[in-house]
Amino acid sequence: MSGSARIMVLNGPNLDLLGTRETQIYGRETLEDICSGVRQRASDLDLDVDFVQSNHEGALIEAVHRAMDGTAAIIVNAGGLTHTSIALMDALKAYRGVVVEVHLSNVHRREPYRHHSFVAEAASGQICGFGGHGYILALDAIHRLLGRAP
Ligand code: DQA
Repeated sequence: MSGSARIMVLNGPNLDLLGTRETQIYGRETLEDICSGVRQRASDLDLDVDFVQSNHEGALIEAVHRAMDGTAAIIVNAGGLTHTSIALMDALKAYRGVVVEVHLSNVHRREPYRHHSFVAEAASGQICGFGGHGYILALDAIHRLLGRAP
């Protein structure tokens, strides 16, 4: 394998509230818990991870722009912006690396307005309904998509 690859985990609005926010839907795991699980798995896979969380659409878009400079893949949970943001979708489409969309909840079993994802149009695939474990599944998918799996 040729050195470590850099990836970004991008979390959108209200994901900083995980652990206390609508726990019947999102569980009690905090974003920090999720990040530490990702950090561990990423080090097994020889991936370097940057974590970004913002409640602001423009900050998320700018993070995608930064990723254009050498970041091989983005795991994105855009929260509510998933269903509304054409601008974030456009940024992800302009990015040439691998994009994997993650949601903690199974958005397809929820309200109809959560069934459509603009992010999905820019992503290789979507993982939803597995809580924080979805981010680990996304890492494994990226490892494979980057051609780094044995
Ligand atoms: C979410 C699902 C979205 O519909 C919602 O707005 C969120 C979280 C999830 O991880 O399940 O903020 O992205």
